[in-house]
Amino acid sequence: MSIERTLSIIKPDGVRKKIIDEINKRFEDAGLAIVNAKMMQLSKSDAEGFYAIHKDRSFFNDLVAYMTSGLVMVQILEGENAIQLNRRIMGATNPEEAADGTIRSDFASSIEENVVHGSDGLETAKTEIEYFFG
Ligand code: CMP
Repeated sequence: MSIERTLSIIKPDGVRKKIIDEINKRFEDAGLAIVNAKMMQLSKSDAEGFYAIHKDRSFFNDLVAYMTSGLVMVQILEGENAIQLNRRIMGATNPEEAADGTIRSDFASSIEENVVHGSDGLETAKTEIEYFFG
């Protein structure tokens, strides 16, 4: 186990549902500290750049439209095993497959509009934190 940092985004549907505080309470109760945070409106190029790995996927244009549809809360979470812990708290990408009590199981409406993003590994976390926080 080691202290890690991971990037979290509360996506536009999460902000619209007014569950920022509820989500952050889940992170903090699980032992993750929010060490940086900013509310942002992503531009088309911000969203395209962030999700560039998915640029050939059929859902890419819809994903960019969704991520630019309103404000997002971009955060750095820190704690022991933060990357995997955050992924456990979020639940599976598809809310129908997400474990009970996870954020996506409780709040996400579809595989696309799934409330939160979290880095999926150590290298990704570094790149994603750099992308938004320099
Ligand atoms: P996220 O974990 O941020 O990573 C990529 C995002 O693309 C995902 O959450 C969803 O918001 C969106 N998405 C839409 N359709 C799919 C799909 N079929 N598989 C994976 N991600 C999808």
